[in-house]
Amino acid sequence: MSLDENYLYLSNALKNAIILPVLVIENVEDAVPLAESLLEGGCSSVEVTLRTEAALPAMESIAKALPELSLGAGTLLEPEQFLQVKNAGAHYALSPGTTRTLAQAAIDSQVAYVPAAATPSEVLELRELGFKIQKLFPAGASGGIEMLKSLASPIADVRFCPTGGVSTSNVNDYLKQPNVICVGGSWLAPKNLVAEKNWSAISKIVRESLSDVS
Ligand code: 3PG
Repeated sequence: MSLDENYLYLSNALKNAIILPVLVIENVEDAVPLAESLLEGGCSSVEVTLRTEAALPAMESIAKALPELSLGAGTLLEPEQFLQVKNAGAHYALSPGTTRTLAQAAIDSQVAYVPAAATPSEVLELRELGFKIQKLFPAGASGGIEMLKSLASPIADVRFCPTGGVSTSNVNDYLKQPNVICVGGSWLAPKNLVAEKNWSAISKIVRESLSDVS
């Protein structure tokens, strides 16, 4: 897909998602029930991070079992990972920061990509490369809502998925910002509930988070 087609895909997928759970999956057998519980709660997309050995097989399982879910692959740090996640069935990729090498690998592999920025100059550099949907990471530590407000007027055509420090207490304030397309975070799938395989509690967190915003 071209950069324009990828932009359209991300624009729809992230706008529909509203909230994007950031997942660190330790056991591949948790992947499908966890994704099902998030889907059941109202999520339409998840970010499976490449932080564990189980991540790629987890993506394969989710892609096969739940094709209706928009599957994001997160924590891409190396250029070769774009093809790896594409082959595992991911629909798009995200990084906690971005280099020109990573941006070029996304373009070359034709993977829809949400690169990350934390300063106005980084936002502009990614914008020049054609990326108008970006992660603001780490959102809280880089200025949070005040940073988004400051970016909105001078860089009006870039939309953000703030991630890092988002929680039930501030998710609504983030989503109210006109330049926010969705918000991401780990609060939607707490580690202890995943370890306990408490899938219904995870669905409940998602339902509550979404009911607050809609
Ligand atoms: C990420 O992995 O993108 C962030 O670490 C998620 O941050 P959070 O744990 O503060 O939600």
